[in-house]
Amino acid sequence: METPSTLFTGILGAFIVSTGAMVLIPHSQLSGLQPQVVWEENQNAPSDVYPSKIEHSLGQRHGQRIFVENGCFYCHTQQIRDPQFGPDVERGWGPRRSVARDYIYQDTPLLGATRLGPDLANYGWRDSEGKRFWRNEQPKEAEQIVRDEAFIYKHLFNPRARISNSNCPSNPALFEQREIGSGVSPNAVKVENGKQWVPTASARNLAAYLLSLDRSHELKEAPVAKKEAKK
Ligand code: HEC
Repeated sequence: METPSTLFTGILGAFIVSTGAMVLIPHSQLSGLQPQVVWEENQNAPSDVYPSKIEHSLGQRHGQRIFVENGCFYCHTQQIRDPQFGPDVERGWGPRRSVARDYIYQDTPLLGATRLGPDLANYGWRDSEGKRFWRNEQPKEAEQIVRDEAFIYKHLFNPRARISNSNCPSNPALFEQREIGSGVSPNAVKVENGKQWVPTASARNLAAYLLSLDRSHELKEAPVAKKEAKK
């Protein structure tokens, strides 16, 4: 029969051993690590490529918070798999696989775990002429969808307007009703009975965040697998 003090010593012992193994030892091994500055060939300053191309403005950071608060990351990853392991590049989600450096210094790296919707790691990907590139699956240029701000608002308000069986949830709370007043806003998603539904500041920041996502630049450890289409 165990006495209460043996039980107590056992619990305390387990607590001390696990704190040591999971907190103190890793802390002593890893806390002194300094960020590594990577110099690329043909770069004259590390800041050209480091920390990462994505540096969010204040509005875009707020947009990232809206992305998290609305659970967008439950269905949308932000990580492109190596072409050897999956068809992400082929699908037009990005020109190269994602690597650790893509997330460095990001407050909240949103790699995601499940993919019910497309990966958004490069949603704002543009070619050298500023044309949007992400998942332009339409072969004919005239039929390509322009994924600009107005497109994003329409999608957020009602994804099923374009794809009837889309699983992406609608987010009417990101829009507010206004009098039409001096004219219908180019970003209005619905006009009815003299009223228009326009994006709130949260929706505008969310759109800015989505359009800021662009990890298409080449890195030494992740060469661009898919070059821009020949003009
Ligand atoms: C339940 C899973 C789910 C959640 C949660 C979700 N989505 Fe989606 N999303 C999808 C699916 C599936 C698609 C593909 C079908 C489509 O395009 O509508 C998609 C497509 C998209 C697209 C691509 C549209 C295009 O073709 O350009 C964007 C952008 C997007 N979602 C943004 C969001 C944002 C922002 C949120 C959070 C407010 C969100 N999604 C939450 C499932 C989800």
